[in-house]
Amino acid sequence: MSSQDRPLVIGNWKMNLTRAQTLVLARQYVEAFGAAAEKIDIGAAPSLATLKEVGEIFADSPLTLAAQTVAAEAPGALTGEVSAGMLAEFGVRYCLVGHSERRQRLGESDAMVHDKVIQAMAANLVPVICVGETLDERNAQKKEVIVTGKISAALEGITLDRPVVIAYEPIWAISTSGSGQTDTGENVAIMAEVIHQALVDRFPIEQVMKYCSIIYGGSVDETNASEYLHQKYIRGALVGGASLKPERLRGVIETLTQ
Ligand code: PGA
Repeated sequence: MSSQDRPLVIGNWKMNLTRAQTLVLARQYVEAFGAAAEKIDIGAAPSLATLKEVGEIFADSPLTLAAQTVAAEAPGALTGEVSAGMLAEFGVRYCLVGHSERRQRLGESDAMVHDKVIQAMAANLVPVICVGETLDERNAQKKEVIVTGKISAALEGITLDRPVVIAYEPIWAISTSGSGQTDTGENVAIMAEVIHQALVDRFPIEQVMKYCSIIYGGSVDETNASEYLHQKYIRGALVGGASLKPERLRGVIETLTQ
């Protein structure tokens, strides 16, 4: 089994926690998921400000450290950003890129997402490229073209010689989006196929099979994980709200380990 076949779950803790709460949760992850992380890839993306300490807590466990973002530029004069190389120094393996909250509220453009992918890959981080459509785009029958366009922009000119993860995160299905709507397994399957096709249109299929993974994010929790995560081409999940409660994330992980 290649590492791309191992299920992958990343908890996206966003900006929800204090430092103290973060360290408690990190210790709970080691306790609750240390054994499962021998079988599947389990990671957490804490606030950048706590990466070092969470990395120290994860250090003697198989849990993986992830970052919520990365700078779009090489080290230099860019106030407030953290370079890919520095994330790597902290022991980061995965790095979220283009999360919809950053695209919509911080103006992260397709061009910036592309530059972040370049920076991440150059530092041997695995970019987790978040793509998804808004409710309006979905209602206008544009979900395929929007998602394919975001993938094309992110991967333009990239040499696929190391792992890349695409996280399909329909914006309307994210738990805090306020749409009140949740996804269906059928839509996840359709969009996973669309994403797979977008990848094989761009790269040789052998490289796609070797290096690319697709995960799903959008209110994934212990009640719906089996519906969303057992679809063809879906390797795992990016989990927001439910990842803050180990007893809830446990149900998601069990879906992938049983
Ligand atoms: P959610 O968040 O699981 O709370 O919907 C997912 C995400 O935004 O990554």
